[in-house]
Amino acid sequence: MSKLDVILIPDRRLRQVCEPVTKVDGAVRRTLDDMLETMYAAPGIGLAAPQVGVMKRMLVIDITREGEPKQPYFFINPKVVWASEEVSTYQEGCLSIPEYYEDVERPARVRVEYVDHDGSEQEIVAEGLLSTCLQHEIDHLNGVLFIDYISRLKRERVMKKFIKRAKSVA
Ligand code: NI
Repeated sequence: MSKLDVILIPDRRLRQVCEPVTKVDGAVRRTLDDMLETMYAAPGIGLAAPQVGVMKRMLVIDITREGEPKQPYFFINPKVVWASEEVSTYQEGCLSIPEYYEDVERPARVRVEYVDHDGSEQEIVAEGLLSTCLQHEIDHLNGVLFIDYISRLKRERVMKKFIKRAKSVA
């Protein structure tokens, strides 16, 4: 496995809609494994393929805490097929928007259909942190970021900060 570079806003790739994965082959599995290693190293609890510049509909999640046995999830072509009316609020962050956190309200529970690491079709009903994380990562596959749910003023402020930062490293 090898660690990949995580791209940051305002990289345009983070605003693109990703293509479905047509076949779960060795290359797809290798990318997922690399994404998992990249996420653990960050550290983070979720990482979507476009965040490492791979424009495919796949993501990895592990919401276990440090010291607990790892429990990685691999989601290929995930699709939200049901969302609860009940909502919950979590403070979210994103490896593509480092050191920035804001409360976001989302459906408390979602049912998601997806294909797993072995290429089998699966379904999960997620709640709590897993539900929020899954929705956040699926948004990435559609070019949506968690800052799209906060006030325009806050969003413009954080965008400005990262545009400046990108210019200074360029
Ligand atoms: Ni994110």
